[in-house]
Amino acid sequence: MQTLLAKITSHRALEARWLNTLSLLEHIGARKISKTVCQDHPSLAIMEHFHDETRHAYVLKKMSEALGGENPGYLCADEAVSYFQMLDHSVCQLIEEHLGCNNTFTNYAFVTCLIERRAMALYPLYQKITKETLVREELEGIINEETNHRITIEAKVKKILSEGKIKSLEPCLTLEAKLFETFCGSLEKEIRG
Ligand SMILES: [Fe+2]
Ligand SMILES: [Fe+2]
Repeated sequence: MQTLLAKITSHRALEARWLNTLSLLEHIGARKISKTVCQDHPSLAIMEHFHDETRHAYVLKKMSEALGGENPGYLCADEAVSYFQMLDHSVCQLIEEHLGCNNTFTNYAFVTCLIERRAMALYPLYQKITKETLVREELEGIINEETNHRITIEAKVKKILSEGKIKSLEPCLTLEAKLFETFCGSLEKEIRG
């Protein structure tokens, strides 16, 4: 990922497209929260999460346009969408196998946990590598918020695991790592293009 990010950040136009893709991913995340656990009036923690992810999508898009002008394009938008959708679908299936039924909150908690872990591996690294001061500063705020999400959601997942029907997060982690690797493979190909 480090090499990939170094390549992306060495060209402004490329970094603008990358930021737009990150914005798309954050937007999908926010939309999923809205479509699932926000159907009724949600808890403060869920509402905060929804608000933050929407803000991340907005801030990342704003930076994307600051670097690349209006509509700078994407880096592997279809593959980014597929990463998220496949993750959500596979985790949902896995949970259903264990619980014998679909559980919206458990699905939300597990997918969020995986996404937050990925975000906390990716954003700090990206912040270290980018040469853009604006990006570094805005990422600081995003990282702080993702840290809070992670603490909240890890506690929820721990509680679900302690109930014993689902024994471990490991299979989900393996799944996410594979899907993210596929996404990175597409990015590499696109950059080499
Ligand atoms: Fe986010
Ligand atoms: Fe988050």
